[in-house]
Amino acid sequence: MLISIVHDSGYGHTARVAKAVAEGVGQVHGAEAKLFAVADGVDWPTLEASDAIIFGSPTYNGMISARLKQFFEDSTKAAWSELKWRDKIAAGFTNSGAQHGDKLNSLVSMALFAAQHGMIWVGLDLMPGNNSSTASPDDLNRLGSWLGVMTHANVDQAPDVAPPASDLTTAQYLGRRVATIVGRFQPA
Ligand SMILES: Cc1cc2nc3c(=O)[nH]c(=O)nc-3n(C[C@H](O)[C@H](O)[C@H](O)COP(=O)(O)O)c2cc1C
Repeated sequence: MLISIVHDSGYGHTARVAKAVAEGVGQVHGAEAKLFAVADGVDWPTLEASDAIIFGSPTYNGMISARLKQFFEDSTKAAWSELKWRDKIAAGFTNSGAQHGDKLNSLVSMALFAAQHGMIWVGLDLMPGNNSSTASPDDLNRLGSWLGVMTHANVDQAPDVAPPASDLTTAQYLGRRVATIVGRFQPA
């Protein structure tokens, strides 16, 4: 099972999240993760051979980054015109500097993009964390997202400490979930 993680990251925080997603994929027997930073270019044949593609972007100006959008546009000729990604599993994650930061718009854009490619979108089946008097920011899904993983990195902290461990564990969870679901689609 091959799962590609196509992401952008201007300052390294979203790249750290992408690594965590890949770690989660690697926790599933028989699943392999391939990381593609769009700034370095993607390998279209590998994407075509993938069982799933997970998209990741920083939220910039309340939307996905220009570089990820460019990749989306480039995929029109490379994949969409022949629906090469039809029935692949898709999922997404986004990181931003504000706790809310209008991240939902980025995930919506990714899910719509996946739908236009005929892909099957997988959200996050986690209860919201950090949402009661006894809860904590250390909870899984501390930002309470369902469409995909939202992470938050303090703007004055480098990617070695931000986003925090709870967000990275949530990202690992998404990778594991996607790999597990891909497994269910494998022929017996
Ligand atoms: C051009 C630009 C626009 C940004 N817009 C937002 C925004 O809309 N919401 C937000 O919460 N943070 C915003 N930020 C902060 C980034 O989301 C934050 O620094 C994030 O950790 C960057 O991820 P990266 O290190 O992967 O690039 C913006 C940063 C830049 C450079």
